[in-house]
Formats: sequence, C-alpha cells, structure tokens
Amino acid sequence: MLRRPAGRAVIDGAVLDLHNHVLFGLDDGCRTLEESQALCARARAAGHVGFVATPHIRPGMFENDPAGILRRRDEARATVEAEGLELHLGAEYYFCPELLDGARQRALLTLGETSRFVLVELPTTRLPVRYDEVLYEIRLAGYVPVIAHPERAQGLQDDLPKVLGALRQVEVLLQLDLGSLIGHYGRGAKKAAEELVKRGAYHVAAGDLHRPDDVKAIIPPALARLAKLLGKRKVGPEGVRTLTLDNPRRILADAPLTDLVPV
Ligand SMILES: [Fe+2]
Repeated sequence: MLRRPAGRAVIDGAVLDLHNHVLFGLDDGCRTLEESQALCARARAAGHVGFVATPHIRPGMFENDPAGILRRRDEARATVEAEGLELHLGAEYYFCPELLDGARQRALLTLGETSRFVLVELPTTRLPVRYDEVLYEIRLAGYVPVIAHPERAQGLQDDLPKVLGALRQVEVLLQLDLGSLIGHYGRGAKKAAEELVKRGAYHVAAGDLHRPDDVKAIIPPALARLAKLLGKRKVGPEGVRTLTLDNPRRILADAPLTDLVPV
C-alpha cells in the first residue's frame, strides 16, 4: 500500500479522470463542443481536476487514429481549460489484431502521449483465446496495458480468480469504472468490481464519462461507495485519492510499476 506523508491533506472527490469520452464528435461520447463544455462544468463542480481524454479506437466501429484525436484535442483544449480543468490525451484501444500491430510499430497513442501506458478495452463477452499472451506481446513491444473496466468483461466475471491471476502474471494495470460500483453496468459488473476492490486489484479508478448527465449519476455515489469499500481495507479516503488522483498522475509521469502498487 502506498503511504501518504503525515500531515498532507486529503482532497475529497479529487479526480484526474484517466478514462472518459469528453472529446466531442469522435465516438459514442460527447456529440458537440457544447456537450463537452457542459460535461466539464459538471465534472469540475463534482471535484474533477482534469481529464485524460480517451476516445475509442476500434476498427469497424470507431475509426479514429492518433492524428485525428490530436486535432480534436486542439479544438477542444481552450473550452476544457476555461472550465478550470487540465486536459491530457490518450485513447481507449479495443483488443484486436490491429492493437498488437500498432504496438509492434510503436504507433500507439499512450496515456499522456509520452508514457508507456496504453488503455486497452477487452471484449465484454468472452475473453479472446490467449489474451494474456497477446498482452505480454504488447508489454514486450514496450507498452504497459491498463485494462479498462475488467469487471465488465463476462470472461472475468465467470472465473475472476483465474483471470485476475493471468492479468497479474503479465503485469498489466487494472482500471475500475466507477459506475460499475453502483450497478451502472449490471449486477455482474458490480459484483466483480466489489470483489476486485476487496482484493486490492485496481491501480486506477475513472469515470468513463460519456455525457454531462453521467457526472451526477456516477461520480458522487460511486466515490462514496468506493470509500466505504476501501474503508474495510483501512485505506478509505486516502485509498480513493490514490486511485483517482495520485496514480493517474504517476501514469502520466511514466512512473515505475513499483510506484503503482494497488491499495
Ligand atoms: Fe470508455
């Protein structure tokens, strides 16, 4: 467990949101600049300090590429910053053959653009054959996958201990979708999320916000639920901050994996 130096204040609700769809017109997230602005205003009021925007990159569904995402970031930057939020960049890569190709070509858009960390979404149904070997291949190519909302994958829900063991074996990071804790993605995801929190499996917690209304529906109740669950592990509010603020900062700074020990 990471320990905070004595006397440092804990900021309730402070989130540097490492997974979201705040950039408009690229995927199933915000549709217009106005929607991006409204999402930012509400997030700021809820305690967010910034976004690491992660538009979907999924061949056949969301045909984005790093160049287009960078352009949209430039178009949205002034609006996000005017709401008092930091704006960093990344992408949410779907787990598919093109992802491994991109890794081998050293062409992936990483979290914060200059880190080794890349957000990867597994299929929500079955896990692909040899998924752990592919993740290891991505590691060998020089990246560290951060698995987006593993609790939402049916394959993990069906055999959590085995899949968690495999993910730990290949030294990837795990990102909790805050909405999973309050049933936003169904009972299976909620149960798996609670179990992973209890096991101290997560390195990051993020909102995966798509629209302005998501903020109020997800962020305050999910942070309260997370604090309660972590309280049972005796890391309560400090544990929340590690997952929502400190570890996202460390990832953007390309910290060593040893600095990202789960709470
Ligand atoms: Fe997402």
